[in-house]
Amino acid sequence: MSTRSDSNTNDLTKTVKVWDPLVRIGHWTLVIAFFTAYFTEDDFMTQHTWAGYIVGSIVLLRIVWGFIGSKHAKFSDFIYSPKAVFNYLIGLLKRKPQHYVGHNPAGGAMVMALLLSLSATVFTGLTLYAVEENAGPFAGIVSTSEPSATPIAIVSSAYADDDKDKGAMGVNKDSGEFWEDLHEFFANLTLLLVALHVSGVLLSSYIDKENLIKGMMTGRKTIPKEMESNDE
Ligand code: HEM
Ligand code: HEM
Repeated sequence: MSTRSDSNTNDLTKTVKVWDPLVRIGHWTLVIAFFTAYFTEDDFMTQHTWAGYIVGSIVLLRIVWGFIGSKHAKFSDFIYSPKAVFNYLIGLLKRKPQHYVGHNPAGGAMVMALLLSLSATVFTGLTLYAVEENAGPFAGIVSTSEPSATPIAIVSSAYADDDKDKGAMGVNKDSGEFWEDLHEFFANLTLLLVALHVSGVLLSSYIDKENLIKGMMTGRKTIPKEMESNDE
């Protein structure tokens, strides 16, 4: 759980260290790579796949960091019970400032939702790339003209109609459409979560009287001394 800390700034506020460089650089690189992937999908496939690989690498690294990283980067620091998330949101509605050094309970839940949705977007993108272009790390696993017993092949062939046209590499075109639809769905779901995430960041910053965005840039937060953190 998040804890309050540390050094004194003046009589009214104190500055505390929160986000390590991997979290911060990872976050802003992820933002750029996500939007690059989102807006290059059609005509710029090379840029799209590279941006997608960058997103995938950051997400993977962040998941590992969630187990072995710095104090506030660890999942155990910001995964709260549904009740704590609910209570935090009620506090926000009542405009009651609440202070957490790491992610607040609602922010923590959103981080997990973002990481899951980003993972699904990358996974379906990699599968689509293999099915359509026979390229990328999944090529050979899914892009084959022979029936295969891999879970991916089973799911996509269940969706596909065997009598329909075969596309490149003998892969049923319906299978490509299935993965394209799924990929598009997760890309748009992630975009929706991002919109909620940014709204949540702005709302929490306003109600809790903390500049969370500055915190994600500098790695530090300044919190009023008289405002106690809820979790000590
Ligand atoms: C593609 C868009 C975005 C994605 C995928 C994204 C994802 C994330 C993730 C995964 C975290 C958790 C950081 C960590 O613990 O490693 C996070 C935190 C954060 N993000 Fe974003 N983000 C996006 C856009 C933005 C934007 C545009 C802003 C600023 C307006 C922003 C502000 C923040 C802040 C302030 C935090 C820390 C929240 C806190 O202090 O608890 N994010 N974001
Ligand atoms: C988070 C990262 C990603 C985002 C936001 C994203 C987003 C999108 C979107 C919105 C589309 C258009 C879907 C449609 O209109 O049907 C698309 C298509 C596609 N994406 Fe991604 N994608 C990402 C990662 C990847 C990755 C890692 C790969 C593979 C290396 C990939 C491969 C493809 C392919 C092959 C298409 C089909 C393009 C076409 O046939 O026109 N994507 N992606």
